[in-house]
Amino acid sequence: MSGLVRLTARAKLTLSLRVTGVRPDGFHELEALVTSIGEPVDSVYVRLLDGQEIQGTVPELRIGGPTARGLPADERNLALRAARALTAARLQITLHKTIPAGGGLGGGSADAAAVLAGLVHLGAASDARAGLSDIAAGLGSDIPFCLAGGLAWMRGRGERIEPLEPLAGPELVVAVPPFPLATPAVYRAWDELGGPRSTRVCAAPTAEIAALLPGGLVNDLEPAAEAVEPRLRPFREAVETVCSLPAVLAGSGSAYFVPLPAGTGAARLAAEVARATGATTWATRPVRQGVELAG
Ligand code: C5P
Repeated sequence: MSGLVRLTARAKLTLSLRVTGVRPDGFHELEALVTSIGEPVDSVYVRLLDGQEIQGTVPELRIGGPTARGLPADERNLALRAARALTAARLQITLHKTIPAGGGLGGGSADAAAVLAGLVHLGAASDARAGLSDIAAGLGSDIPFCLAGGLAWMRGRGERIEPLEPLAGPELVVAVPPFPLATPAVYRAWDELGGPRSTRVCAAPTAEIAALLPGGLVNDLEPAAEAVEPRLRPFREAVETVCSLPAVLAGSGSAYFVPLPAGTGAARLAAEVARATGATTWATRPVRQGVELAG
């Protein structure tokens, strides 16, 4: 068996997140509205090998691209763990990274979801969807959503996905500061702070979102993230000043996003936020798929 597939693995954006409890195993129960977004993306190549094409360890993982620096190419990488969970076939996986690590945009999870989808496409794993989402959940809380893509409610520790009709808007400015945040540290801080509920609510930018989130967009992890990383709050305030609108923390951070009413000029604002804060920014919007087969 041999073959090559290239996939686009899209970032996920948590539009709103409430923590509703803590489980006995320490994971947090969530209710989150999550969407795939058009940018940033990683490209993921999955290649099934014939015979002795690779002499070293398999699967072989190669990582390049602007945000590849410092990423492990061993079993700490979710893409490699995803491959091992699904097949014993000889593989080469290549990631071209533009999704930053530690931004709360689910880049590692998106790559793992793309590897799972790529292996199914190549016939290296059976297309048992129920089994696949169980494997995805076992690998990481965000992977079931990345595999499903589009718009969804995410519940439980993340593994319970309720798909929704994808959103037509809004435009989004996504800004990743030059300092990352580690998800476990943010959840730990949330526990240590006594489980705060965020009171900073951002009005829903479109009628579609207002129907799903009548109370507006909010992220309960924001007080914890801003406690873990003191540079985060001034960063958020600078983003809000440039956009003249409230920003919402993306997942466990460190990225913030600003949802914009139509016609606000997301590209210009994204460029201004980058200039004012040193962040990496994108002007983007929700999309229908998390993982896509690419040409
Ligand atoms: O599932 P994943 O490996 O992505 O989670 C990373 C860490 O984030 C977990 O070890 C846990 O500390 C925290 N987490 C949590 N509750 C969730 C998701 C993640 O406490 N629902």
